[in-house]
Parts: sequence; C-alpha cells; structure tokens
Amino acid sequence: MAEQPFDDRDGFIWMDGEYTPWRETKVHVLTHAMHYASCVFEGERAYGGQIFESLRHSQRLANSADIMGFDLPVSVAELEDIKAETLAKSGLENAYIRAFAWRGSEMMGVSAQNNTIHLAVAVWAWGDYFADKMKGIRMTHAEWRRPAPDTAPCHAKAAGLYMICTLSKHAAERDGYADALMLDYRGQVAEATGANIFFLRDGALHTPTPDCFLNGITRQTAIKLAKARQIEVIERAIMPDELSTFDECFITGSAAEITPVAEIGEFTYKPGAVSEALVEDYSDLVYRKIAMPAE
Ligand SMILES: Cc1ncc(COP(=O)(O)O)c(C=O)c1O
Repeated sequence: MAEQPFDDRDGFIWMDGEYTPWRETKVHVLTHAMHYASCVFEGERAYGGQIFESLRHSQRLANSADIMGFDLPVSVAELEDIKAETLAKSGLENAYIRAFAWRGSEMMGVSAQNNTIHLAVAVWAWGDYFADKMKGIRMTHAEWRRPAPDTAPCHAKAAGLYMICTLSKHAAERDGYADALMLDYRGQVAEATGANIFFLRDGALHTPTPDCFLNGITRQTAIKLAKARQIEVIERAIMPDELSTFDECFITGSAAEITPVAEIGEFTYKPGAVSEALVEDYSDLVYRKIAMPAE
C-alpha cells in the first residue's frame, strides 16, 4: 500500500510560532531554501514519549544554522520545548521528529542577506527505516563522493549536502539495493547516504574518522555502547580494499538506528553477535532500560 503523502495528513505542524493544520502548512514557491538549498534540518526519534538525545539534536540544528550563516529564530532551550510540545500534541509515543530552519522569500538570488529565517517542527509515526532490518541490508557502491571540507560545509546537516545522497540512494534502489556506500573525496570509505558505518574485524570495531561527513549522534552512541562492552573502537581512514577483510558491518543513524549490513557490492558480512548485541543495547538505551554509558 502506498504511503500517505506527506502533504496530505491529519494533525498539526508547528511553524513560526503557531500550530497550523498539517495540510495547510505551506511556504511560497519563491522560497530561497527551495532554489538555493538554504535549509538545515534534524531527524530524531522519540521512544516511549521521549525524544532520544533531543538536546544534542537541537544544538546540532543551531550549529548547522550557524555554519550556514544564520541564527535560528528561537533559542535551543525554546526549541527543546517546541519539539516536546509538538510531540505531545501529536499523541504519538514512538515517532520521528523533523525540526528544520530555512531562508524565506524576501530576496531571490544567490544573496539572501535579509531573508526571514523560518522554523518548523513536524512529528510523524515512522517504523524501521529498512525492511527486514535484522537480516542485514544489501548495499551497493555509490558513484558520488563526500566532498572535501573546503568544497562544502560538511559538518552542517544542511539540505544541499543531500543532493548526492538522493542520487546515490535512487541509483542503489534502481538496482535492487537498500542503500549505497559513499567514498570521500580522497577515495576513503565514508558513510551510507543517511547513516554512518562500522566494521568488525578480529573483535574490534573500525569506523571512518568523521572529518568530511557528520559525526552522527547515533555513531557517538554506538561507540559508547561498544566501549561499555569492552569492544575496542578504532576511528581511522578505511580504504575500499579493506572491505573484503571485515566480518560484520552495521550502519548507524537516528532514522536507521543500528542496522546490520549483509552486503556491500561484492562483499558479504554476517549480521553477527556484535551487531546484534549493539542493536539490543541501543534499543535498551532509547527506551531507558539502561543509562547512557560514560565516554
Ligand atoms: C548523511 C548522514 N550521515 C550520518 C547520519 C547519522 O547522524 P545521526 O546519528 O546524528 O542521526 C545522518 C542522519 O542524520 C545522515 O543523514
């Protein structure tokens, strides 16, 4: 069954200080963000009525805006309240939260110095990002590479950076895969199109150093969970010719959570004991059955 379109749903979206009926929450077509990608956003999940790592997501949104050269129209503390209130108003306990800020329509051109900064928060029900998650997803290789830090503002969660992610994901799906592994501008292993990546070899986890892509909040959580299990975590440059040497692989992201990977192109991985243990730990953590391990 086709998913209900995102502009045709019940409920309310918080935008610029008020709740508007979902179907009526609109922007003008001459919105700078739509033409020049001047938009930053967050993707978060709530579990049992509480947003996991909400404050860190709000801080990252403010930081992304700062990198893009604008201020959010509210403080981080106010954003925290808006997100919690929008979640409560949705009536959902387990939900996805999308907070986003963008340049409006006063000026239309590359320069948009005087444009109003808008802010919205929408909440919807969202299950697993991947079907058959625990079987391990099938990934292929992306044709697009993560840009260098002096080519794009790679530490902002900014809409413009997702152009190559959508291209890569669409190409993967066209070929029957769930996602794609992107290399970076140096040819090193970087990440999936919306999630960070980890590999297991000889009992130790290896993950690329996040120097030209997001150091995901889930990535940082997975590192803490692994360390709490006395699993060594090595952050380093990983070259594609190492892909054949790993036993397990998983990706991490607020949407993807911790998802085992069964295949990357010609390489296969076992959704094995370490991936399974971390999937379980992550679930226990987000539902507050265990506390966040120390650094
Ligand atoms: C490109 C990309 N990398 C990594 C991540 C993982 O980030 P997080 O764990 O903070 O959701 C995301 C998701 O936000 C993403 O879109």
